[in-house]
Amino acid sequence: MIEIKGLSFSFAGQSALLDINLSITRGEKVAILGPNGSGKSTLLKVIAGLIFPQKGEYVFEGTLINKKTFKSKEFTRKFRKNVQIVFQEPDVMLFNPTVYDEIAFGLRVFGIDNEEEKVIEVARMLLIDKLLERSIYNLSGGEKQKVAIAACLVVEPSLLLLDEPTAYLDTKSTLTLSKIIRDSDMTVITAVHDIHTARLFADRFVALSSEHKKVFDGTFDELYSNREKLRDYGIHIFDDAECVKEEENGG
Ligand SMILES: Nc1ncnc2c1ncn2[C@@H]1O[C@H](COP(=O)(O)OP(=O)(O)OP(=O)(O)O)[C@@H](O)[C@H]1O
Ligand SMILES: [Mg+2]
Repeated sequence: MIEIKGLSFSFAGQSALLDINLSITRGEKVAILGPNGSGKSTLLKVIAGLIFPQKGEYVFEGTLINKKTFKSKEFTRKFRKNVQIVFQEPDVMLFNPTVYDEIAFGLRVFGIDNEEEKVIEVARMLLIDKLLERSIYNLSGGEKQKVAIAACLVVEPSLLLLDEPTAYLDTKSTLTLSKIIRDSDMTVITAVHDIHTARLFADRFVALSSEHKKVFDGTFDELYSNREKLRDYGIHIFDDAECVKEEENGG
């Protein structure tokens, strides 16, 4: 589904991603790990087609993604429906007067039928069906985050990009979201700092270093065996994971 080769991206000469190679097949659940500023959000934005590689290339389902690709209205429509991103700060995504309208927005844009049924179904899944008539502006942080996620899920994307989706979520909501992801056929890429959360959302782990390079790609067991090396790259996520590992071993 996703083929990224030699991707580099910088903001005003400041590197954010350096020579990244990454391929992801349909249905995979991948976590992007890495310290603050390592490039996780930037990578998700490239995959979402919001910014374009300055070096290297990004191919989505056989189509090279760059500014020119989005000149095709037909492609743009299909891509924008199928690739949904939930930003790190839910506030930047919410602009409709009510929760209902916010969730229904994508259905209206893409001309998808059965609006009410779909909005209610996704709101129930995310435990926000009681909020549908509420105004967006006075929701709590976690409620806003769930609305932002619902607004993406409702259009049934094939690729869902989640940027720190649990920052505001309580445990029950985190587990609910993890189950939705696990049970779905969607490809889901989640940027996350915390290894506990990462394991709820993914079974493949990609780590970016503070130098913005990909320094790891593999399973949790491989990640765990490489923890010493990863520490040298500024990825200090393993103290908690060691506890998890011990719990799993009955310790
Ligand atoms: N719009 C921007 N303008 C300038 N620099 C930016 C911009 N967005 C990100 N950067 C820089 O690019 C680098 C990567 O940022 P990015 O937001 O991708 O990191 P991150 O891994 O998502 O970090 P965090 O864990 O804090 O969310 C950082 O050095 C950041 O300061
Ligand atoms: Mg980020």
